[in-house]
Amino acid sequence: MNQNKKKIDWSGGYWKDMLIDQRKFIWHKDTVDKLARWLGLVPGMTAVDVGCGLGNLGYIYWPYFGKNGRYFGVDESMELIQQAEKSAKDWATGGEARFITGDAYKLPFPDDFADWVMCQTLLIHLKDPERALAEMIRVAKPGGLILCNEPDNLSTMLAKHYWSLPELEVEEELLLRKIYLICNKGAINLGRGDNSIANKVPVMMKKFGLTDIEARLNDKAQFLYPPYEGSRQQNILQMIKKRVLDQSDFWMERVKEEFLAGGGDLEEYRRFREISDRLKLIFKNQFEAGEYIVFTSGFFYAIKGRKPE
Ligand SMILES: C[S@@+](CC[C@H](N)C(=O)[O-])C[C@H]1O[C@@H](n2cnc3c(N)ncnc32)[C@H](O)[C@@H]1O
Repeated sequence: MNQNKKKIDWSGGYWKDMLIDQRKFIWHKDTVDKLARWLGLVPGMTAVDVGCGLGNLGYIYWPYFGKNGRYFGVDESMELIQQAEKSAKDWATGGEARFITGDAYKLPFPDDFADWVMCQTLLIHLKDPERALAEMIRVAKPGGLILCNEPDNLSTMLAKHYWSLPELEVEEELLLRKIYLICNKGAINLGRGDNSIANKVPVMMKKFGLTDIEARLNDKAQFLYPPYEGSRQQNILQMIKKRVLDQSDFWMERVKEEFLAGGGDLEEYRRFREISDRLKLIFKNQFEAGEYIVFTSGFFYAIKGRKPE
């Protein structure tokens, strides 16, 4: 598979790994409890999950609506749909969970079909997120719930996080942030989506006439420290290692493509590479010695609105 082609294929390689690794601890269970109350979930609802991937949203919310309920996961990837269908046999009991191959821009449901239409980290990857949101609203019943769990990864990258790697010079910190800002423009130019999409979703909902628009932040903060006890710590450590060491060439190439597509110049990219390569080496040493530490959090929102009656 060509990992650098413009449209991501989530059914394999790095991307599928992400759907499995990152999703294990994406929301704290007590946060999901609170969100389920905030959303007003009740047993027996009919739910549609657009860009469902391996069905993570269905899995985490099923206990709140699944009894006598219906869940329809839709994804353009047939491989993911087939795998999601298999694993749903373990969690989707007492109601009906179905997985369908389909396009977020043309959902395979009639108008006014579902009590609840949701997505998670879908809009961030789309060239035309507004069109997809309009389609989600079309299939919701009047008075129905729309939920978009979307991140603002750009703001997360611009923030200052603690790590055990050496402090960078202020100029270097600024260069990294300049690269992130330009890459985001580049990603949009390449049709890869907007890393900052969550910022725009409430306004998009308003524009489409939704009511009761509100947002909550994912309250997950990560503190990774030796000896990395428990599955959450191990999961985070392995994800970081995979990204920084195993997949380094892939991510560097992606940054280069997006930086140039956003109007960046090669000289600045080279300086970025120097900094990244220096940090990567120190990370490798700390990882192997079991000394790496990071404390971080991010901007990942649950944004809801209601289709007018
Ligand atoms: C980041 S993954 C999120 C998966 C899932 N919602 C989750 O949170 O684990 C994005 C998903 O959207 C799907 N996708 C991307 N563009 C799509 C489109 N136009 N129509 C349907 N699915 C799409 C991908 O195949 C992928 O499974």
